[in-house]
Amino acid sequence: MICVLFGAPGSGKGTQAELITTAAMLPHVSTGELLRAEAAAGTPLGQQVAPLLAAGELVPDELIERVLERRLEAPDAGSGAVLDGYPRTLPQATRLSAHLARSGRRVNVVLVLEVDEPTLMDRLLRRAADQHRADDNPTSIAERLVEYHRRTEPVLGYYRRQGLPVLEVDGTGEVSAVHDRVVQALAGSGGW
Ligand code: AP5
Ligand code: MG
Repeated sequence: MICVLFGAPGSGKGTQAELITTAAMLPHVSTGELLRAEAAAGTPLGQQVAPLLAAGELVPDELIERVLERRLEAPDAGSGAVLDGYPRTLPQATRLSAHLARSGRRVNVVLVLEVDEPTLMDRLLRRAADQHRADDNPTSIAERLVEYHRRTEPVLGYYRRQGLPVLEVDGTGEVSAVHDRVVQALAGSGGW
């Protein structure tokens, strides 16, 4: 089971992925977390991507594709994964489909968390006050939103054209209320 969790920055992908994966005993694969870990460890890849992360720009496809594919080959992803923040461009989506097909797998369901822009801003600026993510500042948040609309949203069309279930869920309100909607949507899709 491969579930793609989709949504703008601050829509709650990480929060909801944690809740789903705990219940389903699947790994939570966040490309943002993987890249932040590389940057924090100061690896060659980390040094290359750190300025892009801080600016809210997407990392080049060829860099992130290798990281993601390596992660999907780990034994804990044998029965599936919840992907948070991947794919984020059309080339990433087509390459992911090809990669999964080689092992007889595919994306089963895409879940989109829908949150209005003032709420996204509010959440990310609140987080900036107590955590110190380099990209939680007004300039980088604005860039992340531009990238989301310009390069990431078209990926939804790709999955819709493939006839995959693309489930749109209201991502506003309490975390637990959003989780209830997510569980209901996934159960209703039949694929989960
Ligand atoms: P990534 O780490 O994926 O960041 P993002 O998409 O900008 O989203 P966030 O992690 O900020 O938000 P989220 O949707 O996970 O929400 P969260 O649960 O944290 O990517 C970071 C960067 O890495 C990219 O900009 C790019 O540079 C690079 N990158 C990553 N993947 C890439 C790819 N595939 N290709 C190229 N580059 C890539 O919630 C946000 C906040 O809100 C938290 O404080 C949370 O506690 C709070 N919150 C959550 N839900 C609620 C709720 N219901 N009510 C109130 N508060 C809530
Ligand atoms: Mg996240």
